[in-house]
Amino acid sequence: KQLEIAVIPGDGIGKEVVPAALDVLRTIAEVHGGLQFTFVEFPWSCDYYMEHGKMMPDDGLQILQGFAAIFLGAVGNPKLVPDHISLWGLLLKIRREFEQVINIRPAKFFRGLQSPLANPNDFDFIVVRENSEGEYSEIGGRIHRGDDEIAIQNAVFTRKGTERAMRYAFELAKKRKRHVTSATKSNGIFHTMPFWDEVFAQVKQDYPEVQTDSYHIDALAAFFVTKPHLFDVVVASNLFGDILTDLGGAIMGSIGIAPAANINLNGKYPSMFEPVHGSAPDIYGKGIANPIGQIWTAKLMLDHFGEDELGSVLLKTIEDVTADGIKTPDIGGKATTREVTDEICRRLRQL
Ligand code: NAI
Ligand code: MG
Repeated sequence: KQLEIAVIPGDGIGKEVVPAALDVLRTIAEVHGGLQFTFVEFPWSCDYYMEHGKMMPDDGLQILQGFAAIFLGAVGNPKLVPDHISLWGLLLKIRREFEQVINIRPAKFFRGLQSPLANPNDFDFIVVRENSEGEYSEIGGRIHRGDDEIAIQNAVFTRKGTERAMRYAFELAKKRKRHVTSATKSNGIFHTMPFWDEVFAQVKQDYPEVQTDSYHIDALAAFFVTKPHLFDVVVASNLFGDILTDLGGAIMGSIGIAPAANINLNGKYPSMFEPVHGSAPDIYGKGIANPIGQIWTAKLMLDHFGEDELGSVLLKTIEDVTADGIKTPDIGGKATTREVTDEICRRLRQL
């Protein structure tokens, strides 16, 4: 299998952890004869902006469109470019124009990591976040009435968009522990959330082999902290998913290890794989950025290409290396980005 990947290291530690993850992917291709990657790098970033006045060239999206996937580090250098310009000029543009309607973020108990939870044993779940509509709409406005001011924000839930996210969650659950939890709030939100529940009840009929439950978002957030082992796949709207996925990252113990994928489902455009963390200007250049978030993101890309088995081997290897104490300072170790990466590659070669 020959895969052409567009690589955008971006800013800050993106330029350190992306090369690390590419080394790991090259090693995997070496070990597993059937898989070949071609990486084409693009320097689109805040530095690029300083030179050209934009985050990517005008035909940037057309250039990206031909690739099998986009592998991105992180974008943002607030000293050079305001964050809303760097974010909207590259990352959000790609997510929206390429109809990456699903965002997935796994969280699991990671051996060798200190979780802030009292009882972190063996949780392992994935949040499927609707990534294109819901609460993050542009519909609404602000008006003055008398001596008051009113702000109105409408949430938009289409049947297609809602069903699409839910079906994705159920399909994913079929490959895992066959359990889907719906994040709702139909007791307090009068129109959209009862609709959400209704669509969920309909979709689940097509998956009799999958168990389901449904919690209000407030209780669900609390259960992430007190009983994270309850969950397998959690499906959530754009806003609820946004909040839950940060919490998912937090209970693992470090933002430096959390991966994410933005999935295009209609096959018209590539999907984009990027870790949860940003460009971490505070540690950039020191060689101590944790490469695990980016490497785990590479695992999600392998899964996406149907290489689930290789993906599982990779995740286990990362976890073994962490459990053996070869880890960067953010998770209590002394190793450099390079040392962690080299050790992962060394173990992959031994398989
Ligand atoms: P950040 O995630 O870059 O950093 C937050 C804290 O976590 C920092 O102390 C950093 O050193 C640490 N950290 C993050 N990743 C790490 C890693 N791999 N290894 C070790 N430590 C790590 O978030 P922050 O500081 O709010 O944002 C910095 C810049 O990144 C901003 O310009 C922001 O807009 C951008 N950003 C970009 C994202 C993206 O491209 N998807 C996501 C989040 C922020
Ligand atoms: Mg967020």
